[in-house]
Parts: sequence; C-alpha cells; structure tokens
Amino acid sequence: MHRAPSYDLDAVRRQIPLLATHVPMNACSQAPQSEPARTAAEAYLDSWGRDGMDWERWIGEVEAARSEFAALIGAEAADVAVATSVSQATASVATGLDFTGRRYGVVVSGVEFPTVAHVWRAQERLGAEVRTVPTRPDGTIPVEDYAEAVDETTLVVSAAHAFYQNGWKQDLHALASLARGRGALLYVDAYQSLGTEPFHAPSSGADFVTSGNLKFLMGMPGIAFVWVRPSLSGELHPAITGWFGRKHPFAFDTRLDWAEGARRLDTGTPPVLEAYVARAGMAWLRELGLDHVADWVRSLGAHLTEGVRARGLTLLGPEDPRARAPTTAIACEDSHAVEAALRARRIIASARGPAIRLAPHFYNTLADVDTALDALADVLGRGTR
Ligand SMILES: Cc1ncc(COP(=O)(O)O)c(C=O)c1O
Repeated sequence: MHRAPSYDLDAVRRQIPLLATHVPMNACSQAPQSEPARTAAEAYLDSWGRDGMDWERWIGEVEAARSEFAALIGAEAADVAVATSVSQATASVATGLDFTGRRYGVVVSGVEFPTVAHVWRAQERLGAEVRTVPTRPDGTIPVEDYAEAVDETTLVVSAAHAFYQNGWKQDLHALASLARGRGALLYVDAYQSLGTEPFHAPSSGADFVTSGNLKFLMGMPGIAFVWVRPSLSGELHPAITGWFGRKHPFAFDTRLDWAEGARRLDTGTPPVLEAYVARAGMAWLRELGLDHVADWVRSLGAHLTEGVRARGLTLLGPEDPRARAPTTAIACEDSHAVEAALRARRIIASARGPAIRLAPHFYNTLADVDTALDALADVLGRGTR
C-alpha cells in the first residue's frame, strides 16, 4: 500500500477550498468544487456577461468537452455524444435500438442505478422484454447468473461497471465475452468508476459506455456523455433527438437525417456552462494521470476497509480494493441520521438505504479516512446504529 500518491497531494488539496473546513468523502454522489471547475464556470459567465452571446466559442467548448471525455476513455470524439444526464443518454441509445425483430430482450443488472433500469423498462411498450439479474446477498453478481439470463432473444445486456451502493466492480471483460458470444450488445454505465482508474472503452468489450460528470469526474450536474462503438452508430435511429443530431444543425432544415457517428445521439442546445466545468474536471484528472489516481485511490480504499474492520463496523460488499471503486458501504440502520450526524462534524458522507457510503478520491489523505471512520464509529456507538 502506498503511503502517499505520486503527485503533489498538498498542491492538489490547495485547489479544493472545501478541504480547509470539511472532510468530503462523498465523491460517489457529488465531487467537491475545485479551482479549475470554478475558473471554468467563471469563464462562461464572463463570456456571457461581456459579449452577450458567443455561440461559436460556446459550441467550441462543448466540442472540447466531448474531446476531453473521448481522450479520458481512449476513444475518438466522433464516437461520443453529449447528453444532459445518464438517463437521457440511456434513453437516446435505447430508443435508437429496434426491439421488434428476433432480438428484443434486455438483461438488466441488479447493480444498475435505478434510472437506467427505468429507461429499459420504458422500452417494454415498444417491444422490449426486460429481465433483471439480481445481486447475491454479498452484494455482487457472478457472471454465471448473467449466463442464465442471456439467450438468443437478448438484444442488449445493461451492466453498470461499479455498483453505486457498495462500489463493487463488475468484470466487464467476462461480461463482454458472454454478451458477444451470444450475439448481444453490452451497455455500460461507468458513472461510479470513471475518474478513479484508467478506462479504455474500445478494448473494454462494451458497445456503449456512459457517464455523467458530477461524481469522480469532478464536475457538476447537467451534462453526461455516451460512447458508441463506431461500427454500431449507423444503426441507431433514436426517438429522442433534435437539431444537434442532424448532419448540418445550422442548415435549419426540418428533414430528419442522421449525423455521422455518435453525434446522431446529440439532441438540442447542449449544456454549455456544464461543458466548461466538465472539461476542466476531466482535464485535471488526465493531467494527474489516471494510473496515479488509481494507485492512491486503491490505497485509500484499502485503508478504509482495514479501518472499518479495526473499528468493528460492518462492511457491505466485497473487501478487495482491486474489485471495488472507492465507494465503501458501512451498515447502519438510519443512514440519513448518520449522514446528518457526520455532517455536523464537517464530514460529508452519503446515505443509501441501509448503509452510509464513504467514497474518498484522489484529493483525500489517509488522515481524512481515519477522521471519518473515528467519527462514524462514535456516531454509531451513540445509538444511530
Ligand atoms: C451509476 C449511476 N448512474 C446514473 C446515475 C444518475 O444518472 P442521471 O441522474 O445523470 O440520469 C447515478 C447517480 O446519480 C449513478 O450512481
């Protein structure tokens, strides 16, 4: 285990003003504001305030954010669509598929964030048949369980990379080989893992990879991206569409043609302010190096699980930090009361059902982890268990 990251942690921490007063451990929900994000937001506000309107510059920023997301996942910008949320990105993909043929099945992982399952279920009206693969009691799903659900009628398997509840990471290569072997597509929501480790979409085996930016990617709400395997984009004709999905958006023509590549999944006027901020967050992470971030995040995760055990708390989900994103779930009865009690001590954690989630990121220290766990042990010892 590393005792320090390979980048300058003090310099990183100076870029996050909240660290002066709080211990943020909630990157699984919302990353803290950074100086790069704030500067980027101000650049948009300044441009708007000063020039009144500058679409060329603003759309240029959206394109830069698209390219930055593509670079983050080792892909081409042409294969990335800009969306406003993961829900919308998923709906764009889902409504672009055809459920009326020989394949109409959607196998939905039990670790999906509910919104993704909602979108697939909404396709049942259009001929889709949704099967869910539930989690086992240990909070994971072995590939064998998918194997039972995927058959010759399956059009797409939808499987989040990391489970939002306990951080468990699925084996995407195993899932991809299962899906591909049976002729099905693989849709991956990587929102809970992107930004914590290197991720290479083209070799991941996934056919679609989506994420928003407000969690480990250090951004804000209102923007998301989806990568589409280039060989597939030509087959997609999404029912959720708009002028930015056309070949020539500024031709102001009402004919429905389809832009090349993943751009056909773009919809209306893109989220400009959010693109400024999203780009800044992703660029910062890329500059630090996702491999270095991953090393440190794994050390923080290992320290966290050891600390949970040492304090007699109950970890939900797997222990091995290599099998988990940084999100760590600790059992408690009234998680919202625990979140509030921690917040009173300036520790920001995130309640989810029967667990409080602690999700450190590249800016946290081992001391942050200890502070959060000591406070949690104390709070739980006082009857909020
Ligand atoms: C894995 C995952 N997917 C999707 C979402 C939500 O997506 P959106 O609100 O962008 O539709 C969340 C949490 O907010 C999440 O954790």
